[in-house]
Amino acid sequence: MFAENVPKYTKTMKLPALIAAFLTLVCQSAFPVFAQPPAAAYYLHPRHADDIPLSRYAERRSKVLSTMSPKSLAVFFAAEVRNRQNDVDYEYRQSSDFWYLCGFPESESSLVLIPGGIVLPKTLDSTGARHDALLFVKKRDLYLEMRSGSITGADRAKTMYGIMTLENVNFASVLGTLLQPEDSTLKRDTVFVTTFPTSAVVEPLSGETVNIERESRLRLQKQYPRAVIRSQKRLLADMRQIKDADELRLLRKAIDISLAGHREAIAQTKPKAYEYEIEAAMEGAFKRLGAEDVGYPSIIGAGANSCILHYTFSRRQAEAGEVLLMDCGAEYHGYTADITRTIPVSGKFSPEQREIYNLVYAAQEAAIKEYRKGVDWRLPHSKAVDVIRTGLIKLGVITNPDDYKLYFPHGSVHYIGLDVHDAGNYATFQPNMILTCEPGIYIPAGSACDKKWWDIGVRIEDDVLVTDGEPVIVSAALPRTAEGIEAMMKAAAAQPTKLPSKKR
Ligand code: GLY
Ligand code: MN
Ligand code: MN
Repeated sequence: MFAENVPKYTKTMKLPALIAAFLTLVCQSAFPVFAQPPAAAYYLHPRHADDIPLSRYAERRSKVLSTMSPKSLAVFFAAEVRNRQNDVDYEYRQSSDFWYLCGFPESESSLVLIPGGIVLPKTLDSTGARHDALLFVKKRDLYLEMRSGSITGADRAKTMYGIMTLENVNFASVLGTLLQPEDSTLKRDTVFVTTFPTSAVVEPLSGETVNIERESRLRLQKQYPRAVIRSQKRLLADMRQIKDADELRLLRKAIDISLAGHREAIAQTKPKAYEYEIEAAMEGAFKRLGAEDVGYPSIIGAGANSCILHYTFSRRQAEAGEVLLMDCGAEYHGYTADITRTIPVSGKFSPEQREIYNLVYAAQEAAIKEYRKGVDWRLPHSKAVDVIRTGLIKLGVITNPDDYKLYFPHGSVHYIGLDVHDAGNYATFQPNMILTCEPGIYIPAGSACDKKWWDIGVRIEDDVLVTDGEPVIVSAALPRTAEGIEAMMKAAAAQPTKLPSKKR
């Protein structure tokens, strides 16, 4: 429905109940929205049983507060709504740092952390309590709620998220009070601003980059000349790279859902299947099993498309004799898996495909062994490179050892979590880090090698948990060997597809 077709909700529409009822009756079919929506009509999604407990968010905020000087304050912003085209926006996704610290899902929100706390004016909080965290949220608006779903509002957010919450209209005055308190001993000299909703945009006519983040910092600096404006990005990365028990629980669930999706997609793969049909099987399973979204656009490429690292169009038909590369992960409660399998479209790898597959598998095996406490994060990739470089020379694909980079042009390791390429400081591995291991070989047509290797793209990607002992491959339940994949395809071909049932 277009926005223009709907009369705007305004205060003047507050008609007496009788007239409203009459109008509703008369206009129901042609103008169903003329009736004023009752104040509490719109369903507010309650917190889910799997949600991260509020105590965990409080623990994370306390950790941030404990690193801050008493004269500082920190502001975290929600992500902005991104426009798709005209009056249609992309589905909203909260900023990961903001979400990590309070779990509040709505746009136009901010979180302020205040070491030592603040006692708000009685008009804002009659309790006289001291608050070291303030959440600012958008005001309820029945017209907007009718169109896009309930807005939590300050009153409900306070109870649901366990943080003192105010409407956005109070943000500037509270910030001003904090930065210029009457008591000069409390003057705050450092403002941490870690996440800007948008950091920069490119001005289309000049092509010049307008750095919004820098402009905002300058403006704030001008307004409060004594304040030093700094970032806590590194602190947040330090925290987010080590997963707590709740994050591991959600990541395991995202991974399990993703594995089910991969199984369904594999079962749907046969010669002449379209990439989008296989994507539908994958993402259909994600949604049926309770994932809210994909963690990143699904990568499903057959034949030549298997050699495009982040191919997302999914329009081609898979042909007999080709490989199909699927890099797909479900997002569950904000946490995303990142899993890749490469399979033979006809159910059996050709001799060349098998050679390349086994080489990538050997590289992954060598790399995974190194996901151990205290190991430099670069070691697994260098182990994978050693295997692939030697293997490609042995197969005659390359003669110059450095040329392995032509066919293995990416790294093997990144954190996963709230982001598919999650925050982290990439130093040494520590227990409860969870990272991918994803070596690959891609030989597009036209490459300087025997054409029997052309159009073979293979990546194997698993999610590995670092522990005090052995690495744990959390995604291990999905076969990784060439033989395991062939056996799975044979079993799938022998029985009609069964859709997994929804378990939550
Ligand atoms: N799915 C993106 C990546 O593997 O990094
Ligand atoms: Mn990855
Ligand atoms: Mn991936």
